[in-house]
Amino acid sequence: MPVHVACIMDGNGRWAEQRSLERTEGHSAGEAAVVSAVRGARDMGIQWLTLFAFSTENWQRPQAEVDYLMRFNQRILVNNGQHWHRMGVRVRYLGALDARVPDCVREQITHYEQLTADNTDMTFTMAFNHGGRSALVHAVRALMDADTKAAEVSEECLARHMQYPDLPDVDLLIRTSGEHRLSNFLLWQMAYAEMYFPETLWPDFRANHLAEAVAVYHSRQRRYGTVIHTPQDQPFNRLTTP
Ligand code: IPE
Ligand code: IPE
Ligand code: MG
Repeated sequence: MPVHVACIMDGNGRWAEQRSLERTEGHSAGEAAVVSAVRGARDMGIQWLTLFAFSTENWQRPQAEVDYLMRFNQRILVNNGQHWHRMGVRVRYLGALDARVPDCVREQITHYEQLTADNTDMTFTMAFNHGGRSALVHAVRALMDADTKAAEVSEECLARHMQYPDLPDVDLLIRTSGEHRLSNFLLWQMAYAEMYFPETLWPDFRANHLAEAVAVYHSRQRRYGTVIHTPQDQPFNRLTTP
């Protein structure tokens, strides 16, 4: 099983356009996909699921849509937080809860993070006001604040200064809606992720699509820059096999 699956939930606007609905209706329809993905990931034994809910670039959308997305993320928590808690899911928010995030949204996030903090069945991270570059700047600031000497800066040291140092590398990235880009998502943790780009629009995504993505992941060979020998390839075997 991939340890960490991350999804870029994309295609809500197009889903709504196809139905002559407002873009916000597409976001709203995406809640069922979030619920199904969390349940599916937990049932499959995936330990870490991260969903990209709002990027540092998404502030540039029309104010009405930004406002909607803020309330919508609050609603998702209020509607599902208790249920996720009962499922043994630890809920976390990755990103800056800065002054642009309304107080009521921040309060719900803090409440559910605290409520679920000791759950161990799965960690469900919402990347919310997250940007991969901004996360790296945060880590560099944290290590400078700790008076780290240049010679002491290593990959492990930088990783320890990220917002959640325990967030593992991404094994499988899924981006729905057929777009093929990272859009500034988890840049540090994505270094060796396998990527899968289904055409499905996010509001149509369900646990069975997650299972399909995991099946594709199983068919991939992860090499990490090294050479993987099949038994026939190995010179040692050729010499010793009569
Ligand atoms: C993803 O759907 C949701 C967020 C970025 C918050 P989009 O709103 O990007 O949908 P499209 O890409 O316009 O279809
Ligand atoms: C990425 O989707 C951000 C989230 C899913 C939250 P976007 O739809 O905002 O990304 P671009 O603009 O197509 O790259
Ligand atoms: Mg999009």
